[in-house]
Amino acid sequence: MKTYAVVLAAGKGTRMRTELPKCAYPILKKPMIEYIIEHIEVSDIDETICVVGHKKEYIENVLKERVKYAVQEQQLGTGHAVLMAEDLLRGKEGNTIIMLGDMPLVDQSVINNVLEMHTRANNDITVLTTTFDNPYGYGRIIRDKEGRIEKIVEQNDCTPEQKMIKEINTGIYVVNNLYLFDALKQIQENPRKKEYYLTDIISIMRNNKQKVGAFELWDSYKVMGVNDLYSISIAEKYLRDHINKKHMLQGVSIINPETVTIGHNVLIEGGTVIYPNTYITGSTIIKKGSKIGPNTEVHSSKVHENVRIKHSLVFDSEIHKDSIVGPFAHLRNGAVIGEDNRIGNFVEVKKSTTGKGTKAAHLAYIGDATTGKNVNFGCGSITVNYDGVNKHQTIIGNDVFIGCNTNLVAPVSIGDKVFIAAGSTVTRDVPKGALAIARNKQINKEDYAKNFIRPKDDE
Ligand code: UD1
Ligand code: MG
Repeated sequence: MKTYAVVLAAGKGTRMRTELPKCAYPILKKPMIEYIIEHIEVSDIDETICVVGHKKEYIENVLKERVKYAVQEQQLGTGHAVLMAEDLLRGKEGNTIIMLGDMPLVDQSVINNVLEMHTRANNDITVLTTTFDNPYGYGRIIRDKEGRIEKIVEQNDCTPEQKMIKEINTGIYVVNNLYLFDALKQIQENPRKKEYYLTDIISIMRNNKQKVGAFELWDSYKVMGVNDLYSISIAEKYLRDHINKKHMLQGVSIINPETVTIGHNVLIEGGTVIYPNTYITGSTIIKKGSKIGPNTEVHSSKVHENVRIKHSLVFDSEIHKDSIVGPFAHLRNGAVIGEDNRIGNFVEVKKSTTGKGTKAAHLAYIGDATTGKNVNFGCGSITVNYDGVNKHQTIIGNDVFIGCNTNLVAPVSIGDKVFIAAGSTVTRDVPKGALAIARNKQINKEDYAKNFIRPKDDE
């Protein structure tokens, strides 16, 4: 028997008050919907259907071919949303787990446990519940005298007594496919909200004499629903603490961890140190012995052994071992820094590769360039890579010394062991071993300076 998942992500997310639809909104720089799909992919689920509608292209762009899509053109509620999966699921024997796309903290163990509990109890529908000290906003679980689940009542439809109930609906249900769509069709429009509430499926299936069960989850934080930007910040805090703890237990030293944000897919080897106010996100890999931060952002980059990065930005780049980056460096768009480099203050490197032992200690721009080993970029040296229309390449050989304030106007090629005089604007290739001087000769006019010196006021 197969198990299917239906994830609801078609809603407007009005309470978010953002342009981006809620389920595509990033948490630790990753779209919310991706968390749940990643956990589904490693759970005991055979096929996943995502229900999309409002701004659906955002969600489709994130999930691409990883799921099948059902479209809900009009947002008529969670019950109506699940019905949109009928064409893809009707007549398929098995169980379907229904989940909401706005629960980013849920994990594989929650999914597998509720599936297992549903099968073991031989239920026709199982709803996952939990208890919150402050249940405001969630649907409440109403139980009968025997303690069996009777129905779910939404916050705004609760009587004052029902509002006191702390057991809530997480929005995760497992349903026998045989009964799912007939039950959904029996849902009546909620007179107040004019929506078809999925929660009504509980009382409907109970009335239909089907076997209804509830499974209570203790780790309640894992099923928090995210409805606005404030709850996103809470979810982010949970995720951050959880991820940081995991790294610390693996031997990563994190100083002042509440100020350090590490993304879900980041890999960090033990024997590393992360200093305060540091963000490490995307598919970043950090190897042992490296020290990152303070005040540093590293996104989707590879940092090899014993690298030191401080007060810097590193995006989509790679830094080879024993190099020092920062303070105030910016590496981006495919910068590959070789071994034992020194990329210092206010240096930007874009789409360039540097050879072993290269140094750009201060105030330089290296863009669309390839350098050999032991190249020294003097303070203020620049690759002039852009002519206003196209980008051009600069190729630099080994053991080159580039004097301060040099412009290398690309396309240009500098041979091995070249020395470029400070202040040069190099527009032609320089052959191996040459000294290049590309600036006006200095003229000294003896005794002439006084003509430019203003007399002091009192003279
Ligand atoms: C829902 C539940 C509530 C539960 C809570 C848990 C209902 C009626 N209420 O409330 O009992 O305690 O989640 O977090 O189910 N969606 C669609 N199409 C729609 C409407 C919504 O696809 O027409 C999607 C949304 O994109 C979202 C999910 O369904 O991912 C849940 O919708 P939301 O509006 O957040 O429901 P809640 O008010 O949180
Ligand atoms: Mg919600």
